[in-house]
Amino acid sequence: MTTGAPVRVGVVGAGYVGLTTGACLASLGHDVICADIDVARVERLRTGDIPIVEAGLAEVVAEGLSSGRLRFEIGAPAAATNTDVVFLCVPTPQGADGGADLRYIETAAAQIGPVLDAGALVVNKSTVPVGSTRAVEDVLQRPDVAVVSNPEFLREGTAVYDFLHPDRVVIGADDRAAGERLAELYAGLDAPILITDPASAETIKYAANGFLAMKISFVNAIAAMCEAVGANVDDVVEGIGADNRIGTAFLKPGPGWGGSCFPKDSRALVKIAADYGYDFTMMKGVIDVNDEQKRRMVAKVRRAVGLAPGRGLGGAVVAVLGLTFKAGTDDLRDSPSVTMVNSLLASGATVRAYDPTVGVEPVDDKAEALRGVELVGSVNEAVKGARVLVIATEWPEFASIDLAEIATLMAADAVVVDTRNLLDPVAVRAAGLGYDGVGRS
Ligand code: UGA
Repeated sequence: MTTGAPVRVGVVGAGYVGLTTGACLASLGHDVICADIDVARVERLRTGDIPIVEAGLAEVVAEGLSSGRLRFEIGAPAAATNTDVVFLCVPTPQGADGGADLRYIETAAAQIGPVLDAGALVVNKSTVPVGSTRAVEDVLQRPDVAVVSNPEFLREGTAVYDFLHPDRVVIGADDRAAGERLAELYAGLDAPILITDPASAETIKYAANGFLAMKISFVNAIAAMCEAVGANVDDVVEGIGADNRIGTAFLKPGPGWGGSCFPKDSRALVKIAADYGYDFTMMKGVIDVNDEQKRRMVAKVRRAVGLAPGRGLGGAVVAVLGLTFKAGTDDLRDSPSVTMVNSLLASGATVRAYDPTVGVEPVDDKAEALRGVELVGSVNEAVKGARVLVIATEWPEFASIDLAEIATLMAADAVVVDTRNLLDPVAVRAAGLGYDGVGRS
């Protein structure tokens, strides 16, 4: 890919965002040092071993390592030593008050402040509350260094593609020249570049995620209505989507939105608004609909087992296909499937689950999130003797499961609860199984 002049880039944080950013900038011809405090992670990355499931990432990392344009180092200062542009890509988890916890950003800024080259550019890529660009300036204590905001819009699972083919690049800079310097880094990309002030760039990120979450909550609310009035949500979405002003993108009903971004960013948006005196009731409604959607999916399982409200699921075997928050990733963070599974376990069900990326012996946080779940290595093992089969993640392999075989393996009167509307209800029923989707009357 062609680019402007190669720039010496440092990236602090080699997680989803930092690793993708570093590897893709190296593929655009820049010289990149990607630094992380996790020594084991850095050592793995130096050998080209990628710790996450992300399409195409292994290839761009391998290309960067072999060309010498991508190096991995330990600790934030390494990314800021002899580099021109330093990206902050550290986590901003949800704090106790619902707002973003900025401690990692502040620590990173404090560590790079003393070693930055004169005239360097510091870029905030982490999702941070409005005003954080200035907060980074305050921590850096380097009047000779410009700080700009450059939010990311990468989706897990397609992050490399999204980085190299963005719909837009947003840069927030008080100093226009600093914004233009950063824009040059992206010269190899075919995308419009919007340079604005930092507060607007920071707001764009939250507004984008908030709007997308709103679309999904809207369609999930419509799906609930479809179930009540006897309509079909697939037809409703096709019908409204034909209107150019609406479109069909991001209007797929499901078990509720999850992942590492929407849940925390939607709450942070409510919190930021409240901090500035605005009661963002619409966003609160979007969050409530999402919480309700997860409970609705569990209620479907209860109905499938034929339970009266308030009764436990004791003894019922529930097979769950898919644990990640969406297909194409191994990420369980805020996964609606994990919420459902834990609610089923709490109500006494035996949960047997299969996910192609989680495996049967997860470790660390994943093992913790799935405590009590019987993890198996195939669809058929999961469904054996089960009363209910829940399709929780839209992994393509689940769309072509052998329904006739599954019907022979499951208990009598078994029901499929299809939280992703992945299967054809007619085919499921023809195989002798009950079917309950989302908004499909
Ligand atoms: C999201 C945004 O899409 C990215 O643009 C943004 O950069 C990223 O958050 C971030 O802030 O870093 P991601 O969390 O990877 O990306 O996931 P999405 O593909 O947006 O899906 C989010 C959730 O919505 C998933 O649980 C998914 O299953 C659900 N979803 C999505 C639906 O239920 N229906 C849809 O039509 C689309």
